[in-house]
Amino acid sequence: MKVTIVGAGNVGASCAEYIAQKRIASKVVLLDIKEGIAEGKALDLSQTATTLGFNTTITGVTNDYKATAGSEVVVITSGVPRKPGMTREELIGINAGIVQSVASNILEHSPNTIIVVVSNPMDTMTYLALKATGLPKNRIIGMGGALDSSRFKTYLSQALEKPANDIQGMVIGGHGDTTMIPLTRLASYNGSPVSQFLDAQTLEKVAADTMVGGATLTKLLGTSAWYAPGASVAYLVDSILNDYKRMIPCSVLLEGEYGLENLCIGVPCIIGAQGVESIVDLQLNEKEQALLNKSAEKVKAMNAALKEVL
Ligand code: 2OP
Repeated sequence: MKVTIVGAGNVGASCAEYIAQKRIASKVVLLDIKEGIAEGKALDLSQTATTLGFNTTITGVTNDYKATAGSEVVVITSGVPRKPGMTREELIGINAGIVQSVASNILEHSPNTIIVVVSNPMDTMTYLALKATGLPKNRIIGMGGALDSSRFKTYLSQALEKPANDIQGMVIGGHGDTTMIPLTRLASYNGSPVSQFLDAQTLEKVAADTMVGGATLTKLLGTSAWYAPGASVAYLVDSILNDYKRMIPCSVLLEGEYGLENLCIGVPCIIGAQGVESIVDLQLNEKEQALLNKSAEKVKAMNAALKEVL
């Protein structure tokens, strides 16, 4: 199985690292426009194979899309990352052109691939990739919900002082500081609602911390995060290549689901060999549905900026 990662920055390199370490694919190609960077990171990562015990071959190339031919999955991480104080939305102009040209180059060499979009603003970039390529909706997946959910579960585990893997929870809506919706009502500690263990004020703080989870890291690191984004991509790619059919919140085109249409936004999806195999209807309560509607309005307002490129 072959996976291409476009963009060998921090996020792209972390994706390659986790995909190899977890033996998710036999081949990983890292591609970047900056001369030598993908080659260098691929070589460095390859030299961890014997100490970490994986056999994945990792190849780095400078803008050579021929090397990506026959990829089952392509992950687009390219574009400019956030600087402290910047929103993901401010990246739209620069990243739109990049995502559009990457998607078309990719499809020339891997016409049957499934595309995972990581570049920000992620929901808008996913919508752009879908419209620009004309691919069926199951083959364009925006990665944001998996990452936001992992942050949500981490904050919950810290508040509960319990292991993160004993926590279940999901974040839906847009992948933005004001658009994501941590579903505290449905989150559980080994099957028991978290509200049984945490008071309303603590739960509100967990939700608020989750929503600005990316911004908190950008402030600390001086650029956007990479370990959790890379691991979330690997988790998603694993479900595709192994046809695990995991339920993962992803940004997908809605055509009436949740009463919304003509946008890509985070909802729980079954992710398997076909990409997005179905969308799960969570039976949101009135308050959650109202938040999702509001989130969708904001994502749509951002998509309006694409008029100039589409
Ligand atoms: C984040 O939230 C990269 O958007 C990504 O860290």
